[in-house]
Amino acid sequence: MKREAKWWKNCVVYQIYPRSFRDTNGDGIGDLAGIIEKLDYVKELGCGAIWICPFYASSDYDNGYDITDYQAIHPDFGTMEEAERLIEEAHRRGIRILIDMVLNHTSCEHPWFLESKKGRENPQGTPNPYRDYYIWREGKNGGAPNNWEAIFGGSAWTRCGEEGDHYLHIFSPMQPDLNWESPELREELFRMMRWWLDKGVDGFRLDAVCYISKDPEFTDSPDGNIRPCASFGPHFEAFARELNREVLSKYENIMTVAEMSESTPERAEIFANEDGSIFSMIFQFQHMDLDGGDSFKWTHRKIELPALKKLMAYWQTNLYGRAWNSLYWCNHDQPRIFSRFGDAEGPLREKSAKMSALCTHMMQGTPYVFQGEELGMTNYPFRDISEVRDLESLNAWEHFVGNGIHTEEEMLELISLRGRDNARTPMQWDDSPNAGFSDGKPWIPVNPNYPQINAKDQLTRENSVFRFYQKLIALRKEHAILTTGRYEPLDLEDPDTFAYLRITESEKLLVLCNYRAHEAGVKLTEELWSEIQEKTVQLLLTNEEDGSAPVLASTVTLRPYEAAVLKIA
Ligand code: GLC
Ligand code: CA
Repeated sequence: MKREAKWWKNCVVYQIYPRSFRDTNGDGIGDLAGIIEKLDYVKELGCGAIWICPFYASSDYDNGYDITDYQAIHPDFGTMEEAERLIEEAHRRGIRILIDMVLNHTSCEHPWFLESKKGRENPQGTPNPYRDYYIWREGKNGGAPNNWEAIFGGSAWTRCGEEGDHYLHIFSPMQPDLNWESPELREELFRMMRWWLDKGVDGFRLDAVCYISKDPEFTDSPDGNIRPCASFGPHFEAFARELNREVLSKYENIMTVAEMSESTPERAEIFANEDGSIFSMIFQFQHMDLDGGDSFKWTHRKIELPALKKLMAYWQTNLYGRAWNSLYWCNHDQPRIFSRFGDAEGPLREKSAKMSALCTHMMQGTPYVFQGEELGMTNYPFRDISEVRDLESLNAWEHFVGNGIHTEEEMLELISLRGRDNARTPMQWDDSPNAGFSDGKPWIPVNPNYPQINAKDQLTRENSVFRFYQKLIALRKEHAILTTGRYEPLDLEDPDTFAYLRITESEKLLVLCNYRAHEAGVKLTEELWSEIQEKTVQLLLTNEEDGSAPVLASTVTLRPYEAAVLKIA
């Protein structure tokens, strides 16, 4: 690969959920050979890097996020030789490979945990060296050591045996948390990461990494919520710096993106700052939580546009020159964006998909495209709980339906709106059976809309969502202002439109988006309106079929779901 400092600053990352991407041997599960087969597709889209969700040996309670061997490939996905070939074939096409590192926990079936749970001492009475690899505490008053609730439901502690200690698991009991306070454990993880970098991977997406240091007192949470108590603990910064020193800094031009719920711009400035001393960028979650309600993700409200605009402006302006943003709406944990905002079931589905893509891609940061997003794939209409695979949704079902909080119908609707499986239905390649994903029975149902939404169709159409993403990705390469320009929001209180400027000394980009199926206006500032009248305005991209630009005026009227970017110079 070419040596390029901070190559991620004008690169778009394509995210692959391997189970659901492309199955080449008919077992219904996507595989590494399937990724290799589709590298040219990713190349055609224009993405310069791929983030691949975990493909390591796993007990598969959480689809790979419960690792049993960090240095082996899950047989469902293929072999180590295929992983090496994937890295090589990607590099040959100028595509970098980011792998997903789960450093906060392993599977309860990982050999370390199997040893750890044997007790504090070996039968010979010597200390068990693996005990300290995980977090063990004595129970309190016959119960768990504290009131923390696991992210996937239930207590965050599970007792080992009737008399035994409790181990901590932030996610599910099958995902025991590693104890980063142990220097031996840290060194094992660092060694393993160096091993992958020596194989040629170009960096990591660091799963749930904000949780590796927790409140050392394990104090009760005011409301049971574990997130604030178990994230960004007192040693987090030291651990992160050590990870950089011992692993990341030893390799040139590698990229890291750290998944961090509970993030703030202040935290981004420390952990994703421009000097590269810790990580390259972070995934923050604040925009993801805007449509969550009282019971976190299992309630639903519409995203209010002014709140979203203010939030994005907050991140864009606070990180400017200080830290680097990631830009995303879709991943394997999130429902499909066009079902959240767009006209997913209506006649303007494609137009609305292009609109929200443009709105995101013209911001500062590294955009992530999650498989199928570039086709405008939508949520899945779950009609029966037997169609659901995700343990988070299944646990929520048990809780909300089991305790009579929601009816079955209500819960299925919530899962169709919010559940993670919406992102995990098979990639829609063409209109043949199973959407061309597999010749066998897919591990999760295919969205019934694949005859209408699929890659084969979109590659033949000039005006498809795929072609639009291709143009957006190309624009980032052509216009340095997209990487360097300052962000300035416009008309923040307007409930229907999203508009902003990107600004350098010599030019401005004006981004105009209408989030509604009706006409809506963006009010420009007087200063901007006079500047527009004096200068040359050039349309760079629009989602209007006829290619026409919006008619500029002091208040610009946008057509339904119209999106455009204009250069003022
Ligand atoms: C991250 C992953 C998610 C996984 C969890 C536990 O949030 O993105 O898929 O379930 O961590 O590893
Ligand atoms: Ca397969």
